[in-house]
Amino acid sequence: MCGIVGYIGNEEAVPVLINGLRKLEYRGYDSAGIAVLGGQGLLVRKSKGVLKVLEEKIGEESASGSLSGSMGIGHTRWATHGEPSDSNSHPHTDVAGKIAVVHNGIIENHAKLKAWLEDHGVGFRSETDTEVIAHLIDFHYNGDLLQAVLEALKRLEGSYALGIICESDPDRIIAVRKESPLVIGAGKGENLIASDVPALLEYTRDVYYLEDREVAVLYRDRVEFYNGEGQSAAKELSHVDWDASAAEKGGYEHFMLKEIHEQPKALTDTLRARIKTYAAKSINLEEIGFDASWAKAGRVVICACGTAWHAGTIGKYAFEHFARIPTDAEIASEYRYRNPIHDPADIFIIISQSGETADTLAAMRMARKAGARIIAITNVVGSTLAREADLVMYTWAGPEIAVASTKAFTTQLMCVYLIALQFGLLRGTITETELNGYIGALEQLAGHAAAILADKENIQRFASRQFNKSKVFFMGRLFDYAVSLESALKLKEISYTHSEAFAAGELKHGPIALVDTSTLVVAICTQSALFDKMDSNIKEVKARGAATLVITYEDVACFDKTADEIFRIPRTCDPLTPILSVIPCQLYAYYCAVQRGLDPDKPRNLAKSVTVE
Ligand code: G6P
Repeated sequence: MCGIVGYIGNEEAVPVLINGLRKLEYRGYDSAGIAVLGGQGLLVRKSKGVLKVLEEKIGEESASGSLSGSMGIGHTRWATHGEPSDSNSHPHTDVAGKIAVVHNGIIENHAKLKAWLEDHGVGFRSETDTEVIAHLIDFHYNGDLLQAVLEALKRLEGSYALGIICESDPDRIIAVRKESPLVIGAGKGENLIASDVPALLEYTRDVYYLEDREVAVLYRDRVEFYNGEGQSAAKELSHVDWDASAAEKGGYEHFMLKEIHEQPKALTDTLRARIKTYAAKSINLEEIGFDASWAKAGRVVICACGTAWHAGTIGKYAFEHFARIPTDAEIASEYRYRNPIHDPADIFIIISQSGETADTLAAMRMARKAGARIIAITNVVGSTLAREADLVMYTWAGPEIAVASTKAFTTQLMCVYLIALQFGLLRGTITETELNGYIGALEQLAGHAAAILADKENIQRFASRQFNKSKVFFMGRLFDYAVSLESALKLKEISYTHSEAFAAGELKHGPIALVDTSTLVVAICTQSALFDKMDSNIKEVKARGAATLVITYEDVACFDKTADEIFRIPRTCDPLTPILSVIPCQLYAYYCAVQRGLDPDKPRNLAKSVTVE
């Protein structure tokens, strides 16, 4: 996720900016840059790669004093629009190079704004959504940077945290945010901005947290605040007493817990990137190169590993349900060594958070050789998968640092649903009105996820009683079975509990022999037509002494008498529940690991990205 820093004071800005960016490295990035304002005017230096590459680039200039100034902005970029490259790195400037902008977020209407600016003669130098902001501010600039920023903001749709400096307005930095984080650090004779507190701690522990649409104007000796209409606003100073490591995790104890909590935002970002909101709502896949020919496929094959394969398994159900197309979900490590039957009319969907998993890439190349067309779902712009696939749909989860995947999984699901629904529309298996209803339901999921997270103490209490079970089985039917697979994986990965997932109908074909009083059975029950069947399965395991936990909708009463404990999730349409029902299971796994004294971020023997066999 992009990181922003900014400094105005009496010291040399370059070392402060580099130092701040280093403190934000944990957020993940693929390029870095700075803009400094001093005697030589506004100077921008940026480069693809790690911070060290940038440092080497500016080393001599900085030592000789030719890159000097006591104010500036800096940025680490996590690519979203456009590949990691020098030209796509931030800061971006207006045509004359007098206004520099760093940005974290997504400008949703950037294509429209770019076309409009091009009509006004503006030439673009990058593929980013951010560059439009620099040009827009310049378009409105009339000697007052604050006014120009306020005017530009009126045209921006989407999310942003921005740091802005201007050569002809040399004694202030303007900072503003909407739905992306930004903190102001208040020092003595110096003030700073940063995406996150760790970048500030060396300079100050007094901070202002900007609210949505608030604008901060930083001078050397003071900070002024304005609302989006330009009226001045008062703000309260907060004091941070976290240590540096807690600060990196945004105050959460672990990255995994932070990432679980980032899901509402990640879901919104992933969905927003692909929804057309003008006139009736529709799914916009044309932007990634998708046209009606893709939906004419004879079969969809989804291929992935680990958690991503679980997303693929849910994808299989979703494609069958919405688009009525034969769909297989394949484990890439199996698929690559099988002798599978290929048809050039197959569409392959390859899912990978990292875009670098060795087995997944091998399976993709095999499908490619057989003539299949390939859609990639990945979280990493410019990854091998993204480069080699025909179409790429990005999950907008931001970097995932904890080994156990959480927000990448739910955003993969969001992508899978969007493609399946679009296939359904094009194949005539769902109507436009139905599609509108489903888009509405998808839009509500982020709020529902936030409601589940607000109830996390309940799950924590449950885990504090049940963390030491020797066996935990997850069971469900249809979509709930696929969520059971993911939930059992999460629990075993980070708490080392022996956990398995069963299709509930398979219980009597073997697994029930394992059930005894040392077993916890988690029954995921969101497929309304099968509640009775699940109720019978729960009774069967209870009769053998198992403790039972049911995860179901908030308005379902039919398990009240059967289950020992119930976690309730907001109601949505049954096929979309995996995005919600997995969250209590992620939290349960997390709290079990913590109760067992383990570090959930770094489970033994596991790697975040498996780039070798
Ligand atoms: C590893 C990770 C899992 C991940 C899997 C596939 O096993 O620990 O969290 O699901 O690889 O990774 P990918 O990057 O392809 O999604």
